[in-house]
Parts: sequence; C-alpha cells; structure tokens
Amino acid sequence: MNLPPGPKLPDWLLKMQFAADPLGFLDKMSQRYGDIFTIMSESTPLLFVGNPQGMKQLFTNTTEIIASGELNQEAAPLVGKNGLLLLDGLRHRYRRKLLMPPLHGNKIRVYGQQICDLTEKVMSQLPINKPFLAYPTMQKITLQIILNTFFGLSEGERYEQLKQLLFTLMNYARSPFVEIPLSFPFLQQNLGRWSPWGYFLYLWQQFDQLLYAEISDRRQQPNSSSDDVLSELIFARNETGELMTNEEIRDLFPSLLFGGRDASATAIAWALYWVHRLPVIREQLLREINSLGDSPDPMNIFQLPYLTAVCNEVLRIYPTQVLTFPRIVESQTELMGYNLSPGTIIIGCIYLTHQNADLYPQPKEFQPERFLEKQYSPYEFLPFGGGARRCPGEALALFEMKLALATIISHYQLALTSTQPEKPHQQGANYPPASNLKMLLVSGNSSNSRQFVTSSTK
Ligand code: HEM
Repeated sequence: MNLPPGPKLPDWLLKMQFAADPLGFLDKMSQRYGDIFTIMSESTPLLFVGNPQGMKQLFTNTTEIIASGELNQEAAPLVGKNGLLLLDGLRHRYRRKLLMPPLHGNKIRVYGQQICDLTEKVMSQLPINKPFLAYPTMQKITLQIILNTFFGLSEGERYEQLKQLLFTLMNYARSPFVEIPLSFPFLQQNLGRWSPWGYFLYLWQQFDQLLYAEISDRRQQPNSSSDDVLSELIFARNETGELMTNEEIRDLFPSLLFGGRDASATAIAWALYWVHRLPVIREQLLREINSLGDSPDPMNIFQLPYLTAVCNEVLRIYPTQVLTFPRIVESQTELMGYNLSPGTIIIGCIYLTHQNADLYPQPKEFQPERFLEKQYSPYEFLPFGGGARRCPGEALALFEMKLALATIISHYQLALTSTQPEKPHQQGANYPPASNLKMLLVSGNSSNSRQFVTSSTK
C-alpha cells in the first residue's frame, strides 16, 4: 500500500483543529499536502480526496469501494439502526428507490405554492426592526415543509402534535445532552425520562406513537390519493415483495428528517447571507424575479437562470455538507495512483473540490456568473455528494431553496446586523453559519403583493 502524505499529529488533536475551524483546517491541509492527503486514525488510514478525478473513482468504483452502513454507526441513535445511513447493499438500494418517486418530479411540483405560503407565514411573524436569527428561522420553514411533503399534514391535532414534537426532538438532538453521548457512547444511559439520554429516547417513543397512529389510520383508507412520502411508503413493497412493516417505514424517517430540515435550512441561511452581503446580487435577483410578472408560477421561478446560478454558488462556496459520508476499500484498489489496501477509509471532500482554482478561479469570491458561463461535471460540482449515497432529497432541496429565497427577497427587506464575515461551523453533518446569522427585518414589502401561483391552481 502507498498512501498520500498527511499530517503526523495525533488524530484527536487534528479533530479538535477541524472542530474549531473546519474550512480553515481543510484549506491548511490542501496548502501543505495537496488535494489528496491521509490522516491516520490509530492504525486506520483516512484518505481525504478533494478533486474531480478522485471523486469520480470514489463514486463509480462500487465493487472495490463500498458505502458501508457500518461506517455511520455513530449516527445510529440519531437515525436508527435501519435508517438509510446505516443500510448498504441491496436493502439500501431498494429503500432509496422507494423514496425517489415521492421526492422528485411532479410529486414535488404540487408543493410549490405551499413552500411559498409557509415561507411567507413564518417570515410574517417576525417583528420589524428587531434582530432575529436566520438559521433557526429557516429551520422553522423547512420543518413545516417536511410536515407537508413527508407526512401530508398541514392542519389538525396530529399535525400540531407532530410539529411541536419534531421541533423539540430535533433541537434536543442538536444539544450537548445528545451530541456529547453520540461521541462517547458509554454516556448513552437510559436512566428514565428525566435523565438526558432517557429523555431523548422518550421523545423518539412519542414520535413512534404518533407515526404509528397515522399509519394505522391511513392503512384503513387505502384509496386515499395523497402524494406524500408516508402514503407512498405505506403502500410500497420491500425488497422481498411484502408490504413494508410499520417499523420499516418508521426507520426511514429520521435520516430524512435531519436532512430535510437542517441541510435545507443551512442552504437557505447561507443564501440569505450572500445576497445581503452583496446587495448587487440581491438587486439582480429581484430584477429577474420581477420579470416574471405579478403572479409567477413557482415552476417558472425554479427555472430562473440567475437564481439557479446564485443557489449553486451558495452551495459551492460553503457546501452544507463539507464532506461526503465515508466509504471503505473492500478489496485492493487504485485511486489517483495510490494503491489502497482493504480497510482504508475514503472521505470525499466536497469543499476542497469546490475550492479548486483551476475549476473555480478566485474560489473564495462569491461569483454566481461562473455557473452561467460554464457547465460543471457531477464530479466538479457536487453539493449533494454522489454514487450510492447521493442525496435523495436533492430535487426537493433545490426547489425549496429557490422558492424560499425568492419569496423572502421579493416580499421582505432584510439586513445583516454585522459586517464581519460569517464562518461555517459543524452541527451534525451540516455546516450552518457559526453565529446562526443575525439579521434584521427592515420592512415587510407590503407594496409588493405578488403571489406565486402553481399551474395546478391557475
Ligand atoms: C440543500 C440541501 C441539501 C444538501 C446540500 C444535501 C447534501 C447531502 C450530501 C452531501 C449527502 C451525502 C452524499 C454522499 O455521501 O455522497 C446527503 C445525503 C443524504 N441526504 Fe441530503 N442534502 C440536502 C437536503 C436533503 C433533504 C431535503 C433530504 C430529505 C428529503 C435529504 C436527505 C438525505 C439523506 C437521507 C441522505 C443519506 C442518503 C443515503 O445514505 O443513501 N437531504 N445529502
């Protein structure tokens, strides 16, 4: 085996440096060692790959490099032992396939108007001229979008209960009471509902009860024509041809919930940051949105070229997920001239690929135009990862990112409260703004009574 060079410091120290400043750490590594380097974790080599050629090999060589679920064991208490992240092989492929139809194409188109309305509803509750935190505000929006798209719920007692519960559960999951035991599993002690870990388990039990009650109601109405993820899964068959059990359905949700709420909220928060830091970009975006007339169809908004370029640049410069989930070498293989032995772990470095100055001149500058001038390959621009674990929520995420951003900037005037540059920090798999992004609502744009209207409602 021959490995690319890398730092010789102990891995705990490197982890601390990464936690303190993830992007700064990766920049430093690539300046010293290039866009492929090794960090030793005890005797296991972790190979960080940050260039298109390596990414292509990582995502396409699926015989020798495996997206093993076991590598994500640490996340099991969060997303479940049978959650997508923990699955691999045939079961993983099959369950992903079940999720694709409700998360793509026409199925998500019908949510266009709802996404605009939910964004409007959350934004209209903000006080004028008082600072608010943009990231948790965007989490509120993306959580409500989840309730509609995943569970098909938008009102009623169960909707209110699930909304409240998911809000509490997902925020608690990001608190030190859960994050610390996730890193130190011996702290995962269930000492009853009033103990930190016991409370976490109690919240999941509450979620299970609500979900099972909803599944049971829907199984009794097999002719319902709902388009949401839950309805699709209830009547879908698993890889052995049987209807999925309640537990199998339930296990798919936690990964979707965290991806669906936090990754999307991170992306929208960063979009707000960049368009308010660079007012010319906001103005150009507004001109483009206004060119659609008074009642633009959300699908037409979704296809706007400059809006698309801005969102791509947001996802390029600070990808919501800086690293892919890890892969493992199953049998001897070669990657970018290095011979890798079984057991070597490979991590795709999305951030470093997006920082390649040959592909993206002046990579630290926010320049949406680059996406108008050049078409990037899926190994050059890869905010949603690739291969076996490529994000199943990509289509929905881009849809909500563009519609939420367009709704906010065309209806509200916001401002950043600080001129200091904002930095990403790690929160689970995502990298939202470290300060949660403090902003000010200067005014609701009441003169602009634009309504986004879907084709289906026209
Ligand atoms: C802008 C928003 C989003 C971004 C940038 C993003 C990015 C990513 C990335 C980079 C990965 C890892 C891919 C890899 O390792 O190759 C991933 C996986 C995943 N994402 Fe997303 N994501 C977003 C939104 C969503 C949404 C809305 C959902 C839910 C519908 C979601 C659900 C997931 C799941 C379940 C996985 C794991 C897939 C698997 O293990 O097979 N994500 N995402």
